[in-house]
Amino acid sequence: MSVYIGSVLGFDTLAIHAGQDPDPTTGAVSPAIHTTSTYKQDGVGGLRDGYEYSRSANPTRTALQACIAAVEHGTHGLAFASGLAAEDTLLRALTKPGDHVLIPDDAYGGTYRLFDKVEQRWGLDYTPVAISDVDAVRAAIRPGVTRIVWVETPTNPLLGIADLQALAEIAHAAEALLVVDNTFASPYLQQPLRLGADVVVHSTTKYAGGHSDVVGGALVVRDAELAESLSFHQNSIGAVAGPFDAWLVLRGLKTLGVRMERHCDNAERVVEFLQRRPEVSTVLYPGLPDHPGHQVAAVQMKRFGGMVSFRMAAGERAAVDVVNHTRLFTLAESLGGVESLIEHPGRMTHASAAGSPLEVPGDLIRVSVGIETLDDLLADLEQAFVKAGVAGS
Ligand SMILES: Cc1ncc(COP(=O)(O)O)c(C=O)c1O
Repeated sequence: MSVYIGSVLGFDTLAIHAGQDPDPTTGAVSPAIHTTSTYKQDGVGGLRDGYEYSRSANPTRTALQACIAAVEHGTHGLAFASGLAAEDTLLRALTKPGDHVLIPDDAYGGTYRLFDKVEQRWGLDYTPVAISDVDAVRAAIRPGVTRIVWVETPTNPLLGIADLQALAEIAHAAEALLVVDNTFASPYLQQPLRLGADVVVHSTTKYAGGHSDVVGGALVVRDAELAESLSFHQNSIGAVAGPFDAWLVLRGLKTLGVRMERHCDNAERVVEFLQRRPEVSTVLYPGLPDHPGHQVAAVQMKRFGGMVSFRMAAGERAAVDVVNHTRLFTLAESLGGVESLIEHPGRMTHASAAGSPLEVPGDLIRVSVGIETLDDLLADLEQAFVKAGVAGS
């Protein structure tokens, strides 16, 4: 286990050094990208450091796994080919046919699709629930049958907040596990394992990677038995992060702290701008004092993140027109990269939830506020409102 696990070093120190000691032979400070599928054995079974075959283990992936475990204050990290690959592996490891899972009633569309169209066919039952409502979660849990309370906080795209400590208590009382998708907050802003969660899930495609140049996922836990089971399933299923992808995420993590501070600075200013606009009916951001989850978010998050959603007073047509007219805010799915992105969740990221209880409002726009020069971002939104013909409406 890495010497950095359980260490009292600060976040940025862990992000830069955990799992990444200089190479003992050359002194190279940047970890190598080990593009190998297999490893020479010193006689049959004579593995060097346990490396046998790269689906089972690869040194670049090992470095990333140690780093993400350290920054999440876990003991074991596992890196996957995508966030959904991590989720699927986790569900296969933790559940069996007949089990039941609670999921957020505004979960990420791809997560919802995984439960609804894939896992359900294999006998895994699920119920969408308002995870910001502790009583609703308590009422929906089926002791002995519910294996997982699955939480996103903030949620995608409505930015709802779940009280992780309260939900951990409820889940554990029913002998279920609390799984937290920490993609939106990132480990810099929130560390769910410290609040009682059992498993942290990441789409490292987002803030962890941070540059929109890689797709990846991760799981982090503290329990050794759970880690062993996940590791077994990671190898058995094989949806692992390749060495180059692992290296990109590892490099991204080094600057996560400074990037998140800037994402938050810019997002706060974008929120102020949107609040002044008459064409915007509602701004959803957990940093706003009137956001229903603000008090909880203020306790469990360091700051409130770079994701902002808002609703257009003039409805869906206006929302689509605005996202079609930004120039710096690139019209694209995904989030968490240095560049600002804008999207229409109902027709893009959450289209798979259309017609379901998880359908999102048509007048909703989601922005991932990047780290560009703030004035340029505000000017871009301003011109998009004008071009879309909704300015001042
Ligand atoms: C909150 C959240 N969880 C999980 C995922 C899935 O991750 P990936 O796209 O890396 O498979 C996403 C993707 O957008 C997401 O936003």
